[in-house]
Amino acid sequence: MDHRPVGVFDSGIGGLSILQALRAELPAEPFVYVADSGHAPYGERDDTHVIARTESILTYLRRHHHIKALVVACNTATAAAIAGLRRQHGDMALVGVEPALKPARSLTTTGVIGVLATQGTLASEKFNRLLAALEGPVRFRLQPCNGLAEAIEQATVTTDNEKTIALIDRYTTGIGPFGTKPGEIDTVVLGCTHYPLVADIIQAAVGPGVRLLEPGRPVARQLRRLLEESGSLHPARPHGQPGSASFLSTGEPSLLARAAQQWLGLGSASVQYTPIGTAPAKN
Ligand code: DGL
Repeated sequence: MDHRPVGVFDSGIGGLSILQALRAELPAEPFVYVADSGHAPYGERDDTHVIARTESILTYLRRHHHIKALVVACNTATAAAIAGLRRQHGDMALVGVEPALKPARSLTTTGVIGVLATQGTLASEKFNRLLAALEGPVRFRLQPCNGLAEAIEQATVTTDNEKTIALIDRYTTGIGPFGTKPGEIDTVVLGCTHYPLVADIIQAAVGPGVRLLEPGRPVARQLRRLLEESGSLHPARPHGQPGSASFLSTGEPSLLARAAQQWLGLGSASVQYTPIGTAPAKN
C-alpha cells in the first residue's frame, strides 16, 4: 500500500480525458495533474522542446509531490520522450498514451481507419514503427490537426466552438469518406488527448455509424496493473470516498479550473499557478 499520489500531465487540458478514466478505474488514488499551458502546444514544436518539458515536469513532481507513478497523458510527449524517461526514471511506474491503432485494426470491418493526431505524433519514430507493424490488411489515413488542441483550449474559456467545428470539418473532410460501406472509414482513432473532449463534435462530422476510439480506459487499466504488481495501490477509503485531485498549471490557471469542473464534474477545482522552469538538456 502506498499513499503517495500519481502524477498526470499534458501540455494543457487534454489529459483530463485520461484523468477522468483514471479516477473511474482507481477511485481511491490521489492524483496531481499538471497542465503545461505556459509551454504549449506541444504538437507543432520540435522534439527537443517536448523532451525538455517532460523531463522538467517529472523531476518537479518527484521532488515536490513525491509521486509514485507518472501518466504521460499526452500522445505527443509520449512519442517524443517516454523512452528517455524510462532510461532515466527506471525506478518509477511510467505509463504513456499512444494512438489506438491496434484496437482499431481489430474493430474495423471496412478495413479503412482514420487517425487524427498532432503533427508531432504522426511524424514521430515511435508512431511510424507502430504503423509499419500494423499496416497491410488494413489502411490508415493519417490527418495532422494543426491548431485543433489550441482551439479546444480556447473554447473552454470563450464557450465558442466555432473554430473547433471549422477545423474538425476541414480535417475530417481531408481523409473521408466515412461510413460502413467498403472503402469508407468506419473507425477513427483520436490520437491526441484533447480530442475526446470534443468527441460529440467529431462524431457529428463523421456520422453516427463511425466508431471513435480513445485511450482512457486501457491507460487506466495499465496503471492499475503496474500499481498492483509493485504493491503500491492506495488503500480503499472509508465509505468509498474518492481520492483527492490537485491541479497545477504553468499557464493561465482559470482555464484548467474551468476545464476540470466541466470534464471531471468537480463542483470547484482550485488550480495552483506553478511555473516549472525547463531543465538544461541531459546527454
Ligand atoms: N494533448 C496532446 C496530445 O495528446 C497534444 C496537444 C498539443 O499539441 O499540445 O498529443
